[in-house]
Amino acid sequence: MKSGSAFRAERALATLCICLCSCGASFDLSDEALRDPEACKSCHPQHFEQWSGSMHAYASTDPVFLAMNARGQRETNGALGDFCVRCHAPMALRGGASSDGLDLPSLPASQQGVTCYFCHQVSAVAGSHNNPLALARDRHMRGGIEDPIATNAHGTAYSTLHAGAGLDSSRLCGSCHDVVTPAGVFLERTFAEWKRSNFSREQVVSQLTCSECHMPTRAAEPDRGNISDRDLHDHGMPGLDVALTDFPRRDAQRAAIERSLATVLVSQLCVSPTQSGSTKIVVTLENIGAGHSFPSGAAHDRRVWVEVKAYAGDKLVFETGAVGDSEAVAAKRASDTDLWTFGDRVFDDAGKPVHMFWDVRRVQSALLQAPSAGINSQLLHYGRTFEIPETPTRVTVRVRVRPIGLDIIDDLIDSGDLDKALRALIPTFTLRSTEIEWRDTSTRLCAPSA
Ligand code: HEC
Ligand code: HEC
Ligand code: HEC
Ligand code: HEC
Ligand code: HEC
Repeated sequence: MKSGSAFRAERALATLCICLCSCGASFDLSDEALRDPEACKSCHPQHFEQWSGSMHAYASTDPVFLAMNARGQRETNGALGDFCVRCHAPMALRGGASSDGLDLPSLPASQQGVTCYFCHQVSAVAGSHNNPLALARDRHMRGGIEDPIATNAHGTAYSTLHAGAGLDSSRLCGSCHDVVTPAGVFLERTFAEWKRSNFSREQVVSQLTCSECHMPTRAAEPDRGNISDRDLHDHGMPGLDVALTDFPRRDAQRAAIERSLATVLVSQLCVSPTQSGSTKIVVTLENIGAGHSFPSGAAHDRRVWVEVKAYAGDKLVFETGAVGDSEAVAAKRASDTDLWTFGDRVFDDAGKPVHMFWDVRRVQSALLQAPSAGINSQLLHYGRTFEIPETPTRVTVRVRVRPIGLDIIDDLIDSGDLDKALRALIPTFTLRSTEIEWRDTSTRLCAPSA
């Protein structure tokens, strides 16, 4: 390890070089220059790399987003306006490059998605949803470092809205992660769910902010060009969505999603004979990892379901939730009467199920909630009993999740807004901690997950 002062000297030299090479007489990056994430790369290479593969970077390049926005503009005769762009490409909107997002594909990369500049210029949060974030535009990059090393590239400022250890920081993330539709429906509620949970309670041991869970710290790696030996925060922010088109770090992002999903739920499986000779299979699930419900946010588009299979010897005697990789979960509803799903189901005024944001008037929610003082802890155990006539020798269970329902994808393909080749790229993940196998050779009635 090199000493802190050695880095500082090195960094000062690097700064000098960058500025001599690219900034001419002035050492400061202009407001315009700071808006381009490429401008951060030389001094913050890992932040840049992680962000580049994140859904924040992909938010306005995502073909599903572009298809939905285009269809929404058409079906509402433009009434949707800047609604979608304000969160998915906030700098394109605020810089005046786009108003309805239809022109996003022709804009330069520097305008796409949720950029470094946007998050790091936030100076106030004037609400709880629909991106009410105010920008300082003063070239001072806000962050959680109280004693930043001086740089000539930009000013720095410590901000409680950024420092992950304080509850204030969840307002920055949260107010962009809660969506109230133009029709007044509170559709995406991650921030509200977090606020209701024990994680948002001050002075409680379980207190955790959005960034404490989603931006884990990592040691700086000086030889890779980091600024100092302080802890840095991961900017990859894996969730459920993946890049469907050519994009940086696709494999890394996918692996990070699988890791992050691996511990969100726990499950238990109990198999017991009844007096009448049938068998009861009882599955219990609990959300132990998310600081909000699971699924959360775009829960109306997510598909989460439970697969249970029972065998007598080699013979399959019962199954539910056996959804093939190219099959829509919705298509199973009619034939699989035991189907157990989690998520939001959305309807129009007439009670007809709908797929698109702007059509939604009513939400029916079935989510795995996070612990909260207001909820009896028993209610946080979500259970189902399946009674079958046979006596199984082996039972398996697993929870599966798909970032977006194939029924929605099909709807967008049918309306001519989405390329049909993308359908095959929608992933299905298995939550590793929920995979259980029970065998009759075990004397135990119940098998908990790993
Ligand atoms: C010429 C080098 C250089 C460039 C270019 C640069 N930075 Fe920095 N930045 C620094 C240094 C040095 C620090 C101090 C880091 C430390 O103390 O560990 C810093 C700190 C920061 C901080 C932390 C502020 C705080 O107080 O917590 C943020 C946020 C930041 N930079 C964002 C950016 C963004 C966004 C860009 C691109 C628009 C960028 N930087 C471009 C050198 C640079
Ligand atoms: C979605 C919002 C968001 C985006 C986009 C974002 N950052 Fe950050 N960044 C944060 C937050 C929040 C922190 C503070 C974390 C803390 O201190 O708990 C942070 C911290 C930093 C820091 C200080 C060191 C550290 O890791 O704590 C630097 C430097 C930085 N970001 C650079 C960048 C660069 C460069 C980009 C774009 C390539 C970028 N950020 C994109 C939210 C964001
Ligand atoms: C400008 C609004 C905005 C802000 C501020 C913001 N986000 Fe996001 N975030 C988005 C959008 C839009 C997406 C979705 C992109 C997509 O999936 O297509 C997203 C995606 C994510 C995802 C991945 C979701 C998934 O399912 O793949 C995570 C995790 C996340 N954000 C966490 C955070 C955290 C933590 C913060 C605060 C440090 C934050 N966000 C701040 C708008 C924002
Ligand atoms: C206690 C840790 C924790 C806290 C606090 C937390 N999250 Fe999460 N979050 C998770 C876990 C675990 C998941 C599920 C794993 C995954 O999706 O990859 C998740 C998933 C998500 C997703 C993906 C959507 C989905 O359906 O699962 C988003 C977006 C998100 N969180 C945003 C936020 C925001 C915004 C906040 C703060 C208001 C927050 N999270 C607070 C742990 C946390
Ligand atoms: C208030 C900010 C906000 C607004 C407004 C918004 N989004 Fe999002 N969007 C998000 C966030 C945050 C996520 C990530 C949610 C998550 O992972 O749970 C997201 C995710 C998505 C996704 C990917 C996940 C999914 O649902 O399949 C699509 C597509 C999308 N939004 C489309 C749209 C469209 C189209 C509009 C306009 C009708 C829109 N969004 C308006 C913040 C917003």
